[in-house]
Amino acid sequence: MVRDPFTQTRPLIAASILSANFARLKSEMDDALGNGADFVHLDIMDGHFVPNISFGPAVIQSIRPECSAFFDAHLMLSEPLRYVEALSKAGAQLLTIHVETVNDVAAAAAQIRALGVRVGITLNPDTPVERLWPALDHVDVVLMMSVFPGFSGQKFIAQSLERCGRVKRRLRADQRLEIDGGIHSGNIASAVSAGCDWLVAGSAIFSGPDRAASIAALRNPMNSAPRPSVWPCTVDND
Ligand code: DX5
Ligand code: ZN
Repeated sequence: MVRDPFTQTRPLIAASILSANFARLKSEMDDALGNGADFVHLDIMDGHFVPNISFGPAVIQSIRPECSAFFDAHLMLSEPLRYVEALSKAGAQLLTIHVETVNDVAAAAAQIRALGVRVGITLNPDTPVERLWPALDHVDVVLMMSVFPGFSGQKFIAQSLERCGRVKRRLRADQRLEIDGGIHSGNIASAVSAGCDWLVAGSAIFSGPDRAASIAALRNPMNSAPRPSVWPCTVDND
């Protein structure tokens, strides 16, 4: 469990509680974090930007005093800026917005940063990565979606790995590349080797009965995967 994942350079596992049993959220988080997950990934969905509804600030506010791990919020909202203040006040420490949902990503990043939280940007698998470039200097995290957002348990889109490489080459050493969707024990090493620092896992952690075994099955290949040596920033011409 880590309180501030930005202090770490090793690969980290973010547990997406979208796959957890919401009737016992605290024990689900304790189980994941006590068995090797590093921090908590919170999927906020509005039923409009994505075809699913999850939870919002009230749930985050309730679980915040129960958990000392870092809270990473992924905003799948058509109008994310309407909710960033409430989400930060509720206890989210990183707010990641989709580039498809704002007109001026750099201005949106500045608005989020003014709340005193970390800023992330993300994009759907069919959105060109070039859409990230104008905002790249203004964010702490780029979240690469490796499924179409909306649901846990979907199949990993392998073409995401090449997109990760293109982003990673443009990031500074103090920025992090996160990947979200379809990560499991069989593909986590390839994500690390493509440049990912933070690996989100939902069903790979919460769908089985033995969290320690599920997380060890992720951690072992994650920790032994070769990592790209692209730091410090070396921008290519793509
Ligand atoms: C999908 C969410 C993911 C999801 C990951 O919209 O953003 O965070 O919960 O779940 P898995 O790891 O099962 O794909
Ligand atoms: Zn997510």
